[in-house]
Amino acid sequence: MKTYNLQGYALEKINEGTFSYIWRVAFGRVAKVKKRPDDASPRELLQELRAQRALFKGGISVPKPFKVSLLRLDELVPALIMKEIQGESMNKMPDAGETYTPEMARAIELRSAELEKAGRLGWVNKDICNFNAIYNPREDKITLVDFRFWIKIGDRKHETR
Ligand SMILES: Nc1ncnc2c1ncn2[C@@H]1O[C@H](COP(=O)(O)OP(=O)(O)OP(=O)(O)O)[C@@H](O)[C@H]1O
Ligand SMILES: [Mg+2]
Repeated sequence: MKTYNLQGYALEKINEGTFSYIWRVAFGRVAKVKKRPDDASPRELLQELRAQRALFKGGISVPKPFKVSLLRLDELVPALIMKEIQGESMNKMPDAGETYTPEMARAIELRSAELEKAGRLGWVNKDICNFNAIYNPREDKITLVDFRFWIKIGDRKHETR
C-alpha cells in the first residue's frame, strides 16, 4: 500500500464519508480531503471552515478547526485541518432493532441539544444524519462533524448540491 508523509509523519486514513477521506496527520489533528479530483477547489472546504469556526466560537461541540491548507498526497490537494475526535460515529453504534439502545438514545439527545444551540445562533444543518456526529460514551460527549450542508439563516443562497 502506498504511504504518504507530512514532515516525516506517516499519514493514516482513519475514516471516510461519501465524498471525503479523513487522514490522521500529526499533533492529534486530521485532514479532510475530497475524494473526487474535480472537487479539488478549496471553495467548499473554505465554506465548511467558515461554518465550523462560527459554531466552534459559539460554543457548539465541533472539532476545533485550524485551517484549509494544501496537503501533498499524489498531488497537492486542499485539506481542512481540524482536531481529531475520539469516539464512535453514530452510524456505527450498535442498533438494537425495534428499540433504541440507551447509548443511542443518549447520543440522539445530546445531538439534539447541540443542534438546538446552533439554531439559536442562526446556524442550521440540512444534513442531519448518524454519519455526521461522533459519540464518546466514556466522556458522554457528542461532537458534530461535516459542515458542508450547514447554512446561516439570512445568508445568500449558494450552490452546494
Ligand atoms: N475530526 C474528526 N475526527 C475523527 N473522525 C472524523 C472527524 N471528522 C470526520 N470524521 C469521521 O469521518 C467521517 C467522514 O467525514 P465527513 O462526514 O466530514 O465526510 P463526508 O461525509 O464524506 O463529507 P462531505 O459530504 O462534506 O464531502 C465521519 O462520518 C466521521 O465518522
Ligand atoms: Mg458526512
